[in-house]
Amino acid sequence: MWCILSIIIAYLIGSISTSTIVVKMVSGKDIRQFGSGNAGATNTSRVLGTKWGIAVLVIDALKGMIALSIVSALAHANPVALALSAIAVVVGHNWPIYFGFRGGKGIATTIGVLLWMAPLMTIIAGILCLVVIALTRYVSLGSLIFAILIPILLGVWAPSHEAALWASIVLALLSIYSHRQNIGRLLRGSERKLFDKTSDHL
Ligand code: G3P
Repeated sequence: MWCILSIIIAYLIGSISTSTIVVKMVSGKDIRQFGSGNAGATNTSRVLGTKWGIAVLVIDALKGMIALSIVSALAHANPVALALSAIAVVVGHNWPIYFGFRGGKGIATTIGVLLWMAPLMTIIAGILCLVVIALTRYVSLGSLIFAILIPILLGVWAPSHEAALWASIVLALLSIYSHRQNIGRLLRGSERKLFDKTSDHL
């Protein structure tokens, strides 16, 4: 009972699409009509600038952490409820019930839930992700490396932390799915780079 309630609450919190709300409030635009069409931090930085992008990144990560804090209290830190709720927050972010099920790719929210569940591994993977982005200016590549690295790090160094391990495996698969078009563009060499001002409109 508490487990199902936790998953529903997590999904509803995840569905609060920060970038859609912020971009609408600041510019009156629908972020999903611009840049990559993604309702996330990277696309917010294309539409409103880097500072807004960072703000959305932080809020979307906090959204994941707040959702798990609530779920943890509700479900008495039940590991199954936590793992399923971590996935549910990201599903809400990607397919938000309040915004026609058109949201983001879930990386900032994945950072939030994994920071809550496995902070050390998330920080290590996050640093590597930042290095990749700084070297290539491909946020999508850094995001994918981050998402795939966490279950590997957990599998090697903390396999007994099963809730975080299973959640991170599912979240990595979700990230690959949500970045499928980015993967195609990366392979073709046509992926947008960070700070690239060209082709801002879909
Ligand atoms: O997390 C999203 C990022 O990896 C890619 O975003 O807008 O370039 O598709 P975008």
